[in-house]
Amino acid sequence: MNKNIITEKNSILSVCAILLAFATYAQTSGGGTERLLPKLEIDYDSWGSNESAIQKKVDSLLSIMSLEEKIGQTVLYSSGWTVTGPTLDENYTDYLKKGMVGALFNAKSANYTREMQKIAVENTRLGIPLLFGYDVIHGYKTIFPIPLGEAASWDLELMEKTAAIAAAEASAAGLHWTYAPMVDVARDARWGRISEGSGEDVFLGSAIAKARVKGLQGKDLFDVNTILACVKHYAAYGAAQAGRDYHSVDMSERELRDSYLPPFIAATEAGVATFMTSFNEISGIPSSGNDFLLDDVLRGEWGFDGFVVTDYTSINEMVAHGFSTDDKHAGEQAMNAGVDMDMQGGIFLNHLKPLVEEAKVSEERINEAARKILLMKYRLGLFEDPYRYSDEVREEETIYKDEYLVVAKEAASKSMVLLKNENKTLPLKKTAKIALIGPLAKDEAHILGSWAAEGDRQGKAISVYEGLENMGILGNITYAKGCEIDSDSKEGFKEALEVAKKSDVVVMVLGESEHMSGEAASRTNIDLPGVQRDLITEIKKSGKPIILVLMNGRPLTLEYESRTVDAILEAWQPGTMGGAAIVDNLFGVHNPSGKLPVTFPRNVGQIPIYYNMKNTGRPIDPNSPNQDYRSNYIDAPNTPLYPFGYGLSYTEFSYSKVSLDKNKIGFDESLKASVTVKNTGRVAGEEIVQLYIRDLVGSVTRPVKELKGFKKIRLEPGQEQTVEFAISSKDLRFYNRQMDFTAEPGDFELFIGTNSDTGNKTSFELIK
Ligand code: BGC
Repeated sequence: MNKNIITEKNSILSVCAILLAFATYAQTSGGGTERLLPKLEIDYDSWGSNESAIQKKVDSLLSIMSLEEKIGQTVLYSSGWTVTGPTLDENYTDYLKKGMVGALFNAKSANYTREMQKIAVENTRLGIPLLFGYDVIHGYKTIFPIPLGEAASWDLELMEKTAAIAAAEASAAGLHWTYAPMVDVARDARWGRISEGSGEDVFLGSAIAKARVKGLQGKDLFDVNTILACVKHYAAYGAAQAGRDYHSVDMSERELRDSYLPPFIAATEAGVATFMTSFNEISGIPSSGNDFLLDDVLRGEWGFDGFVVTDYTSINEMVAHGFSTDDKHAGEQAMNAGVDMDMQGGIFLNHLKPLVEEAKVSEERINEAARKILLMKYRLGLFEDPYRYSDEVREEETIYKDEYLVVAKEAASKSMVLLKNENKTLPLKKTAKIALIGPLAKDEAHILGSWAAEGDRQGKAISVYEGLENMGILGNITYAKGCEIDSDSKEGFKEALEVAKKSDVVVMVLGESEHMSGEAASRTNIDLPGVQRDLITEIKKSGKPIILVLMNGRPLTLEYESRTVDAILEAWQPGTMGGAAIVDNLFGVHNPSGKLPVTFPRNVGQIPIYYNMKNTGRPIDPNSPNQDYRSNYIDAPNTPLYPFGYGLSYTEFSYSKVSLDKNKIGFDESLKASVTVKNTGRVAGEEIVQLYIRDLVGSVTRPVKELKGFKKIRLEPGQEQTVEFAISSKDLRFYNRQMDFTAEPGDFELFIGTNSDTGNKTSFELIK
């Protein structure tokens, strides 16, 4: 990379950043209070090595483009290949020839993208290359655990690595752009798309957002192994009312900024190239027409410089929302709000020209949108060689590389969470006679989860059965399906019980199908579907210990299962190497180390339930037998079944009391908090040490706990390690009464422990 250019680029950016920071700092609100906004240090280094030359080239290209050609750049269509929503217009190849489309999605493979690219390059007046996008959410061919599952590893380096592999495979198949990472904070397990993100927490979610953007985009977008990331869905899509997909969101600006925007900020800081608007409205304004979100916050406050694409037909949907009178009006609102590219809606294609002629949208705004898109095409090197990503040989050599499968197994192994292990039922002994039961025991399709891109649903993924077979102990295994994932039939129960009776131990592999989570897959009942729970009851009659292996895309309600079976391994939908990883966890080849990135409720009625709730004025009094007129339920406890951050191991860890190097800090100081963690069990293991804080009194109320740090450590039996964290006033900031993003002096509690339920705490004071 050319250092001079970087320096030049950085100095321009820093001047802009200083001006922006000054502008936002100096902005005064009605009451005359200074409004402090987070200052971002955006890492644009990954965008390209020849930035100033690129800027000039785009300017000269724009100067010769007609209005129609510029509008063409803002149009994104799905190829007819894989369609992920309603198709509006099948004529995209005609549009391509006329230069009316700037980007295509769902067009993949080196061969096909070359064919499409040829149309754009050879048939249009200016030969501007197309951008090819696709939903590469957790792998392209080599499928990693669903993002929620992978988040349970809390292993940022690993997540960066899996994203980089996804980018390497996708780019070898002609793709330039993925619609990931999905960073929607989600606190409602009914919402099917909880599977696509990092769970409920702001801090963990922000760290993961950064890691995934870095993995996808690498160090330089010009590198053919990297692709543009697209952080989505901006914003607050995860807060859909009642967990129903596409439903409305209504929340205070404070909650939006405190809990839902930080992962987007993190992605911006990591230099994410593109943003996707969400389907939902927020407090009455649909995201694709929301100038506050796009103009004021994203570009104004955060200084985001990439382009914004809508979600699938979400401009058109502003009519159904009741926000736009018709498609044309919707197009005007979207473009003026700051949208640069219209996904699949055909609105920009059909209405932008008359809107400019009628002076409802300025040509300047269209220039700006086209400019941002063209810049990305230059950064990817498409103007140097439009076919540089469409390389059949590289495609053939890259997909399913052995080394990728090794990482896929590692990611799957580290994602699994041991929820229960009564009487040390696990790990299994290789000599045990095992009954393998359940509709997912031999499955190699649902194991990939939703949005599994080009992952092969047959003949490639390792099922649990195959994992056992590969371990070389199949002589001791008997198998019965028992039932389907989601049906009423109990026909298979008898055979399953017979098989169970002849075993020493039963491994049941149950859960959801790949279609039960992801988009448009909200559920009002998040129990195990069909008769799977009844199958457990049936197998229980055998009297044999039961190990439940779960494959699911969301938290399930598992009260009955947690009472009934002996051990539970949450395997999520673990991807191509899933079965091998499950077997490694079951036999202790890998000691489970995952921790829940999301709370598991006892029942649906507790939703939304998440660890960093507010206290209320009538919290439960743990020391009183009388809980009348307290903030509780009369038919279930307030506590979840499994809290955020929870997960067991085959070994045990003891924690010392928390110690601080000082118990008072000023605004420009930091303190060191530490604990000594010891492996008190018999096998080596990994532990994710978690630090939470509580701000006891604020100008606005604060949550009962907030994650502010975590460290993953590995300890041999008997080994201990002191784990240290640094906390400064920066970590204590929030949007206060005046909407200043700042910390407030006062008393804090600081907890360090094994999950969000920890009571291992001390306190400190932040002083002026
Ligand atoms: C989804 C997006 C996705 C897009 C393109 C939409 O329905 O909400 O997450 O990127 O389709 O497939």
